[in-house]
Amino acid sequence: MSNIIVTGAQWGDEGKGKIVDLLTIDADYIVRYQGGHNAGHTVVIGNKEFILHLIPSGILHPGKKCVIGNGVVIDPHALITEIDALKERGIEVKDNLFISGRAHIIMPYHRAIEKESEKLKGSLRIGTTGRGIGPTYADKMARVGIRVADLIDSEVFKDKLKINIQEMNYFLDKLYSAKGFILDDVYNEYMGYAERLRNFVVDTSLLINKAIDEGKNVLFEGAQGTHLDVDHGTYPYVTSSNATAGGACTGTGVGPTKIDRVLGVVKAYTTRVGSGPFPTELKDKTGEFLRERGREYGATTGRPRRCGWFDAPATSYAAKVNGFTDIALTKLDVLDDLEEIKICTGYMYNGRRYDELPSELKILEGCEPIYESLEGWKVSTSGISRYDDLPQKAKAYINRLKELISVEITIISTGFRRDETITLRKIF
Ligand code: IMP
Repeated sequence: MSNIIVTGAQWGDEGKGKIVDLLTIDADYIVRYQGGHNAGHTVVIGNKEFILHLIPSGILHPGKKCVIGNGVVIDPHALITEIDALKERGIEVKDNLFISGRAHIIMPYHRAIEKESEKLKGSLRIGTTGRGIGPTYADKMARVGIRVADLIDSEVFKDKLKINIQEMNYFLDKLYSAKGFILDDVYNEYMGYAERLRNFVVDTSLLINKAIDEGKNVLFEGAQGTHLDVDHGTYPYVTSSNATAGGACTGTGVGPTKIDRVLGVVKAYTTRVGSGPFPTELKDKTGEFLRERGREYGATTGRPRRCGWFDAPATSYAAKVNGFTDIALTKLDVLDDLEEIKICTGYMYNGRRYDELPSELKILEGCEPIYESLEGWKVSTSGISRYDDLPQKAKAYINRLKELISVEITIISTGFRRDETITLRKIF
């Protein structure tokens, strides 16, 4: 038995969906620990593509138990839409999904406040996904949030909603001159959601701890990535939760002593959606090439992702704050046609060299990356599933990344499909 955390090492969209799907084969429980339907995990099975936002992709495997932990924020409408869409495609969602009563609920006023706040910020906007994630976590921290357990208790729900709507309507009106919400409308809408979700609600912390005691394999699945973590990311251009490995414990109610391994998912280059510093961003033809070849468009919002070279200090920082024991390197094949491949090994700012990722936003925004250059392999690696079949120059690139991050690379992904993978060591 083992308990493994899988988390993104960059700014999200590292290809966690496929890696989680692969590891799910050996897992009994798949647990989401933070974020909400801002995430989008793309999984390709055979010739079918599935994009999941809230429900762990384990749901696509018969017999697996999927859990939405207390650290997640849930938009009930989005969750029900996802359940219905899966059912339409023949995937049963019944005794295989468990939702924490301690998870917080996204309300329509959260989305409205976020929209107005982003508008007001103008060029300083974060570039959020517009799903109401930040304001929901803000309410959680302010201790006025509404939890799933509150939603399924109509009296508690109404009492909490009444106060919150009063306050939010005041903000919307006075601060943003925007339209507020009518208590009864929201109440009735959410009571409908409560009925649909009630049977999925359990104490998921007890459920997972029991599974661990019984020797089951548990896979903890992070959304977004390290540099979008509210504490360790490029604040304030981050999401509002702990996407890093520590979040798996607080976001599920499982102690750190129960975790066996932490797998970081690392894309062979770098992408980012939304605003914020991105030292290795390429605004040229190579950036466009990576976007098109890597199909780098947001799975949730469809926004084109910003693309750039691999950033070693940013990734080795991720290795430290997550305590990676293993790395899954993804999308290697996207680099196949390049003449030259660059790796950022440090930064220059105001005449000073930085070998580690600076924590100051000003430096990150103004620094120049220091690159080393490697020759491209110019042969297709697409679909390769044996390490020995990789071209020598691709191996040299992988080895250099491994050296710079100082973590073993145990999985290499060379395509969207499950079988387009090199597994150097079994994770479970
Ligand atoms: P929010 O999570 O919607 O508040 O957005 C905050 C920042 O995180 C924005 O830059 C988003 O583009 C980014 N973000 C949120 N979820 C994801 C994701 O799943 N992948 C990549 N970026 C994300």
